[in-house]
Amino acid sequence: MKILVLGSGGREHAFAWKLAQSPLCDALFVAPGNAGTAQIATNLAVAYNDFEGVATAIRQHSIDLLIVGPEEPLVKGIVNFLRQQPDLAKLRIVGPDEAGAQLEGSKDFSKSFMLRHGIPTAASRTFTVETLDEGLRYLEDHSLPVVLKADGLAAGKGVVIAETMGDAQTTLRDMLDGRKFGDAGSKVVVEQFLRGIELSVFVLTDGVNYKILPEAKDYKRIGEADTGPNTGGMGAVSPVVFANETFLRKVEEKVVKPTLAGLQQDGIHYQGFIFIGLMNVKSEPYVIEYNARMGDPETEVVLPRVQNDFAELMVATADGELDKIALQVSPQTAVTTVIVSNGYPDVYEKGKIITDLERLEDVTAFHAGTTAQDGRVLTNGGRVLALTALANSLENAVRKSQEAARTVQFDGKQYRKDIGLDLIRYQD
Ligand code: AMP
Ligand code: GLY
Repeated sequence: MKILVLGSGGREHAFAWKLAQSPLCDALFVAPGNAGTAQIATNLAVAYNDFEGVATAIRQHSIDLLIVGPEEPLVKGIVNFLRQQPDLAKLRIVGPDEAGAQLEGSKDFSKSFMLRHGIPTAASRTFTVETLDEGLRYLEDHSLPVVLKADGLAAGKGVVIAETMGDAQTTLRDMLDGRKFGDAGSKVVVEQFLRGIELSVFVLTDGVNYKILPEAKDYKRIGEADTGPNTGGMGAVSPVVFANETFLRKVEEKVVKPTLAGLQQDGIHYQGFIFIGLMNVKSEPYVIEYNARMGDPETEVVLPRVQNDFAELMVATADGELDKIALQVSPQTAVTTVIVSNGYPDVYEKGKIITDLERLEDVTAFHAGTTAQDGRVLTNGGRVLALTALANSLENAVRKSQEAARTVQFDGKQYRKDIGLDLIRYQD
C-alpha cells in the first residue's frame, strides 16, 4: 500500500513512524513533512491546504490511503474535494468531511450538537455583533471567571478566560466589534467556567464502530506550574493517573456513545479521529471541546502505547471495519517533552542548528518544526522536537524524556521541566 500523511508536525512524524513499521506499507509520503519524516518517508513539497496539489500528488504517486493530520484542511473540506474527483473513487481517507469537521471548526455548532444530543458540557450562549448589547448584559449577571470562545479556528488563541467583568466585556467587544479574530470571532460562545482536572480522550471511528485510544494529558501553558500564555502544547503524558476505570467508563457512556450516535442521527458519516477535551468535575466528565483530528503533542504519547499495526487500523477505519480489530494498548507510561524556540509562542527565530540528536538513547525524537539543509537539521518552527520516552513507571518516563531535552542543543532552546510532575504527586 502507498500511504500519504498530510501535515508537518510532531503528530505527523508520529503517524509516519508508526506506519513505517507496518508490513502493509510499501511506500510512505508526507506532505510537506519535516526533517524527521524525511528520514523514514518521502517528503512532498505540497502545502496541506493546496487541495489541487494534494490531488495531483495522490495521482502521481498512486496513493491508496490518505491520513489528514491538521484541522485546517479538514475544516476547509479537503475530504469533500477529494471525494468529488471521479478518478480517486478508490482512495481511502482517514479524516472527516466538512460537516464532521464542524465539531472543531465551529464552537457554536459543537455546543448546539452537545445540547441536542444530551452530552454533558458547560452552559453557554452564543452572541454575534447584532446581539452584542444583549451579550454585554448577559455577562453582567454571569459568574466569574467566565469563558469566551471565538466560534471559528483561531490557531489555539480563540479562548479567553476572563477573571473580571471589565475583561469579559472588553473581550466580547474586541471579538465581535473589533474583529480581533477576524471571521473566526464573528460569533462568540460565552460559557460557564468549569473547575476540575483536564484530560483528553481520543476516539477512532469508521462511522459506525469505534475504538477508544489511550487518554492523555497535555501541558498547554509555556511556563512551569501552568503559567504564561497558551501554546500548542509543551508536553504530554499517557496514561493519566486520575482517569481511572470508573471515570473512563462514564466517558464512554455519557460522551463517546452519544457523540457517535449524534453524528449518525445528524447524517454525518464521520471517519477519522475525534479528540475530546474533557474536564473531570468531581468525577463527572464535561466536554470542553471537540477536535476533528489527533492532538499534538498527545499523538506522540498515544501512538507509542498502541501496539496494533497502525496501517491496518487506518484501513479498517476507512473501510468501516473497525469492529474486526482488537485494540492492543501497552500498560507502559509515555511522556513527551517538547523543546521550543526562544520567544515561542510569540515571535521566535528559525534556522538554528540542532545538535546532539545522535546522542539520544532510549527515546524517540519526533520532529515538529525542523528542516534538513546540507546534512544538518535546523529549527523551522516554534515547537521544534517532541522527545518521547516509554517506561514501566511515570517517574522513569519523565526522567528519560527530560534527560533527552537536556541533551539536544540549539541556540535559544526552551522546555518545561515539570512535565508529569503533577501526576507523580497525584499518584503519591
Ligand atoms: P480550547 O481552545 O477550547 O482548547 O480551550 C483552551 C483551554 O481553555 C482549555 O484547554 C481549557 O483549559 C480552558 N477552557 C476552555 N473552556 C473552559 C471552561 N468552560 N471552563 C474552564 N476552562 C476552560
Ligand atoms: N495539544 C492540543 C491540540 O492538539 O489541540
